[in-house]
Amino acid sequence: MIDGKKVLFSGMQATGNLTLGNYLGALKNWVNLSDEYECFYSVVDLHSITVRQDPSELRQRARKLLALYIAAGLDPKKNCIYYQSHVSGHAELAWILNCFTYMGELNRMTQFKDKAAKHADNINAGLFTYPVLMAADILLYQADVVPVGKDQLQHLEITRDIAQRFNAIYGEVFTVPEPFVGKAGAKIMSLQDPAKKMSKSDENANASIYLMDDPDTVIRKFKRAVTDSEAQVKYCEEQPGIRNLIDIYCSCTDKTPEETEKEFDGKGYGEFKLAVGEAVVSVLKPLQERFEDLVKDKAYIDGIIKENADKANYYATKTLRKVQKKVGFPERVR
Ligand code: TRP
Repeated sequence: MIDGKKVLFSGMQATGNLTLGNYLGALKNWVNLSDEYECFYSVVDLHSITVRQDPSELRQRARKLLALYIAAGLDPKKNCIYYQSHVSGHAELAWILNCFTYMGELNRMTQFKDKAAKHADNINAGLFTYPVLMAADILLYQADVVPVGKDQLQHLEITRDIAQRFNAIYGEVFTVPEPFVGKAGAKIMSLQDPAKKMSKSDENANASIYLMDDPDTVIRKFKRAVTDSEAQVKYCEEQPGIRNLIDIYCSCTDKTPEETEKEFDGKGYGEFKLAVGEAVVSVLKPLQERFEDLVKDKAYIDGIIKENADKANYYATKTLRKVQKKVGFPERVR
């Protein structure tokens, strides 16, 4: 608890370009949470170097992601938006937690197996202990809730196991976090294969709408979106492509699927796809404009970075000192 509010923690990697799926499924829904929760949103750059990165590109992307958080509506005075690498407590706690995590547990992580297969030439120890660093992120702030996608649930589960194991030995040190089950954001699927999630790492550029796509590109990608031969705008399992387009349309216009079916009753896919594209453009355009203004204001962004790193450090250090004491490290002499 911080000031009577529960704590919420989440992180995103600054690798790849964020998609409409990241926005409608996550970011957009985070905006109002700061009323109810004390929110920490980290740009998790320590995690990013588990695969090779170009240094200057990583730095640029991290700064852009931070600006994008703000452009998407997260007020940096109410939400702690910061770089993981600016708070050394993440790495320090991760080391300690490594000593409370078993090789066997980490061996079972499906993301490790996937990534190891994908980067067979660089299966480093950091990739293996990635979930422990993630546990440190969460436990450092005594987070009560963590909004994550399905792919990260296993990591949240191991975080809970580590916290409970540590607490069983040393007493109630860590809050045991729960997955966040608030108003779920829409799950947006690929425009080229509606059975797959829209992903920032999709090789087919037509499959994903990137948040920085210009209007022409957005419209073109929707025109090419995969549909079916039913020729009716109907929200049903048998028409996954159309259903995905309806979800996108509804998220962007705050309409319901029923209203959308009525609106496009008897109309062709061409007209519907254009309307979806235009609805998306009307959401992305103001976001892009805010983003462009923000990145120009270097002093403002720098101020936010400094202020929020200080705030994050304050809470992180509090937990870290407690943990260090518990495991038997000597007290600091002042
Ligand atoms: N591993 C997460 C992802 O790739 C990012 C992440 C790092 C995270 N630390 C976290 C998410 C802590 C939630 C909480 O999506």
